[in-house]
Amino acid sequence: MGKVIKIGFFGCGNVGSGVWKLLTGFADNISHRTGLKFELKRALVRDIHKKRDIDFPEGFLTDQVDDILNDDEISIVLEFLGGEEPAFSWDLAALKKGKTVVTANKVALALHWHELQRAAKESGAGLYYEAAVCGAIPIIHTIEESLQANSISYLYGIVNGTTNYILSRMSKNGEDYETVLKDAQKLGLAEPDPAADVEGFDAAYKLSILASLAFHGKVPFEYVYREGITRVKLEDIRCGQELGYTLKLLAIAKRDGLKVETRVHPTFIAQDHPMANVSGSFNAVFLKGHACDEMMFMGKGAGDLPTASAIVSDLVRAASAPQHQYPTFTNEEKPAVGLVRNSDWKCAFYVRTMAKDAPGVLSRVAQTFADHGVSIAAMQQKGERQNDRVPLVFITHTARETDMQEAVRQIDPEIATVESLIRVEK
Ligand code: HSE
Repeated sequence: MGKVIKIGFFGCGNVGSGVWKLLTGFADNISHRTGLKFELKRALVRDIHKKRDIDFPEGFLTDQVDDILNDDEISIVLEFLGGEEPAFSWDLAALKKGKTVVTANKVALALHWHELQRAAKESGAGLYYEAAVCGAIPIIHTIEESLQANSISYLYGIVNGTTNYILSRMSKNGEDYETVLKDAQKLGLAEPDPAADVEGFDAAYKLSILASLAFHGKVPFEYVYREGITRVKLEDIRCGQELGYTLKLLAIAKRDGLKVETRVHPTFIAQDHPMANVSGSFNAVFLKGHACDEMMFMGKGAGDLPTASAIVSDLVRAASAPQHQYPTFTNEEKPAVGLVRNSDWKCAFYVRTMAKDAPGVLSRVAQTFADHGVSIAAMQQKGERQNDRVPLVFITHTARETDMQEAVRQIDPEIATVESLIRVEK
């Protein structure tokens, strides 16, 4: 008989059921390889009488957190409650009692990582969170452990499956945002309240975690600029496609010396970039290290079994570790000393205007760009005339964000109105 480890669950919804299925169905295989035997002792749920797909054994479900916190036999807690509270307080309480926590909760982690890590270190417990970012893709351990020999200069992530699904369908089928969102909700791919996904919060939490690991210094959630996909227009997706681009909700982290930029927003990328082909609800991370060069990771970022894959792997790692390891970067509430937030990043831009169809209009718009140091790389006049206006679309060379914003403000609406401004990564 190998080592028996008693486990508690915080939560037992979709992901919890996936973990149960994986741990019961695959237990012999894990035990055979590792000598570890997991006993699933207790799961904390809100309603123990709720009808569930799985027939859990009598006494497994409880609605009392103390049944887990005060059970000295339970040495590892798996948390899949999601959200900041009460998850954070309960994770913290478990760590303070010396219980290792394996969590899928990016919100609690992004906002309270430093407190959780401090409590874990003090009690000698472990804190594991591979499932918190990109579900099944082992990106956390890859950055934390396997890329230690690299200075990572940038990272692009498609880290939210819901928005990638919506944008992929809009791009491929020409369906509008509202139609696809409703369909995604019916299919269970988007939450009834989709704000966390479509407004970019989910991606921003994940980016704060990835950037902190990649740049070896705390990049707080507040450092992440965030724009969601709710204002994306089908017309821009179509225009972008004609110009050779695909629209993605990209999570971007770049480091140049001490300056870091972290931003989540709809982004045009070249159709031949590997990330442009990450479609549907898939996630991917593309990064560059000075030694490893460019690499890309792709897989399922959500769902019961893909998320359980990361959780159970963390569980095996936690249970086998002679001593728990913690990230070596400065993990404090404040940004890491020496990292400076750069809100004035440089990138190319896509600008769609509706302009008067008259002599001199193009040159006046171009002059406004030039006055702000923005150089035009391509221009297209195509599409339907509306009243006396025609669509004029510009792709700029690399420009500063603040210069571009000011240029757009200065375009005289009497000659052209700016309908959309979308960043382009080349
Ligand atoms: N809601 C997330 C997504 C999955 O759509 O990718 C959990 O992180």
